[in-house]
Amino acid sequence: MADQASGLTIEALLSEDRTFPPSSEFRAQALVSSEDIYAEAEADLEGFWARQAEQIDWFQPYDKVLEWNPPYAKWFLGGKLNISYNCLDRHVQNGGGEKVAYYWEGESGETRTITYAQLLEDVCRCANALKSLGVRKGDRVAIYLPMIPELPVAMLACARIGAPHTAVFAGFSAESLSDRMNDCDAKLLITADGGIRKGSVVPLKKNSDEALKTSPSVEHVLLVKRTGEDVAVQEGRDLWWHDVVSEQPAECEPEALDSEDMLYLLYTSGTTAKPKGIVHTTAGYLLGAMTTHKLVFDIKPDDVYWCAADVGWVTGHSYIVYGPLANHTTGVMYEGVPDFPARDRWWSIVEKYKVTVLYTAPTAIRAHMKWGPQHAEAHDLSSLRLLGSVGEPINPEAWLWYYRHIGGERCPVVDTWWQTETGMIMITPLPGITTLKPGSATRPFPGVEADVVDEQGNSVPLGGAGYLVIKKPWPAMLRGIYGDPERYQQTYWSRYPGMYFPGDGAKRDEDGYFWLLGRVDDVMNVSGHRISTMEVESALVSDSRVAEAAVIGQRDDLTGEAIFAFVILRGDVESEKGLGEELRQYVATKIGAIARPKRIMFTPELPKTRSGKIMRRLLRDIANDRQLGDTTTLADTSVVETIREASTASKGDE
Ligand code: WTA
Repeated sequence: MADQASGLTIEALLSEDRTFPPSSEFRAQALVSSEDIYAEAEADLEGFWARQAEQIDWFQPYDKVLEWNPPYAKWFLGGKLNISYNCLDRHVQNGGGEKVAYYWEGESGETRTITYAQLLEDVCRCANALKSLGVRKGDRVAIYLPMIPELPVAMLACARIGAPHTAVFAGFSAESLSDRMNDCDAKLLITADGGIRKGSVVPLKKNSDEALKTSPSVEHVLLVKRTGEDVAVQEGRDLWWHDVVSEQPAECEPEALDSEDMLYLLYTSGTTAKPKGIVHTTAGYLLGAMTTHKLVFDIKPDDVYWCAADVGWVTGHSYIVYGPLANHTTGVMYEGVPDFPARDRWWSIVEKYKVTVLYTAPTAIRAHMKWGPQHAEAHDLSSLRLLGSVGEPINPEAWLWYYRHIGGERCPVVDTWWQTETGMIMITPLPGITTLKPGSATRPFPGVEADVVDEQGNSVPLGGAGYLVIKKPWPAMLRGIYGDPERYQQTYWSRYPGMYFPGDGAKRDEDGYFWLLGRVDDVMNVSGHRISTMEVESALVSDSRVAEAAVIGQRDDLTGEAIFAFVILRGDVESEKGLGEELRQYVATKIGAIARPKRIMFTPELPKTRSGKIMRRLLRDIANDRQLGDTTTLADTSVVETIREASTASKGDE
């Protein structure tokens, strides 16, 4: 089960037994250089987090660290604070206004350097603009922007006035945007005329207009000019950022928010067709993001830190915006793709800004690996001192390539496991003390109690595999699913009462190291992004020619998993040439390009149980060329053989 669910097989893990202890030089300068931190957190969880919380500037101190009524936690009860104040004002007041917050690099080569003082002004202007458009504390603001500085500015402006934001990744479709805005009744949308990707324009305003046709709650659109092309501007509803924001005063009093006021919503795919709005609140989230950012990446004042994720995903929220800014870190923000205009783009950025810490995803590492080490070798990467990985299990081969060719065998690689729901890194090395094993996320962060359990919820002895669970609350944990407490309970807390179930399989080795094994539910992980099989299936069946569809993740050397769709056409539809391509494109239009199936196979039947449930497990076995698991519950056992033969035969056609 669990170990089959991912590209990493147990055999592959075991064949990689090299270990990498921290060098004495790294250890000597590291923020965490003693194991005591684990014992300290274990002995007194609340005391540990309370000590970390001294890093926060409070407008009013909290009375109580934690209230835990499973499955609901409240942290730092009674405290008042503002995140944008913690990310900006206090640094400026302490004389750190001239420090660079972001080196922004556009895909086509333009640059912007934004100091903390400038960022604060921009955020205040934007916050005032939001207020002038009627946005009040508690109102939801949707943000659909490319990787430009206005994206963090917009998020921080929302945080400043206490209006929860919901960022929608700019690669999502109009329909996905509309669904999200409707789910949270967004009052305002912040978007741009377009985004730039691989030299071409992503029509964000056009998508927004399409989305707004079915999103009546949105009263205004704040429009950033990025590409400068012609876009439709609806009088009274749409306002240009450069008109409305620029004329605002550069000061805006930060709202004193409650520790548990909602900071943001971020939608993520689950096992149904409808994405879940994950709720994060203020104090605990900030604390989790900033503490892990500092200790996992060993962040010092002179670091130049680059997280190459998109701000539209949780990695960007916690580790491009909130964590790094709260820690007064200088960051790099890059707009485009890694191979534009050439495959050395990333390495030229590292060289140019003398990046010291780089955080990215295994799928990107594997792409660089495929392109070859010569692109990195052409640049001076000696500024790097730490590397990070996130989003999916990193195969030992990619880990070693990253360590060798990017890190010059001198930089620790921190493989960090966490989720949109956890808000912060949960299982990770601490680079000054942890002996690394390529492919393992190593140990839970201090204060995080993780375990691996069997079907019954019993802890699996070291050496065994099972389901990952978290047994104690942590500050940045989700506070629920927006508007759906039942689903919250059901998804995360019902399988093992009292324990948080993230949906991942894991194995622990004899040393107690965690090896993540991929999802155990119907969620795929494509290039580090979660996509629900149900979401893709329902997009497919919404085409009138499709009678039924079953979607699974197929192992893929580059993207970890690739989307493989089995499709049954309606009786009167011929599977003519080009239909597969049309359906692939249709899914991309419905959900977004990340959800476009890599393969579509037309089949007359699907393997089902006697009660009619599609057995995706068997389809996964077929697609991944594995021995078929238990087939005794199948209504018709001949179906899988038919599909398997067709699948083998069709491979040659691609
Ligand atoms: C997977 C991304 C193995 C996992 C921060 C999780 C990982 C899902 C790792 C969350 C890792 C993330 N090793 N698997 N280091 N990091 N995952 O919500 O399956 O986009 O449940 O958050 O990605 O994806 P999400």
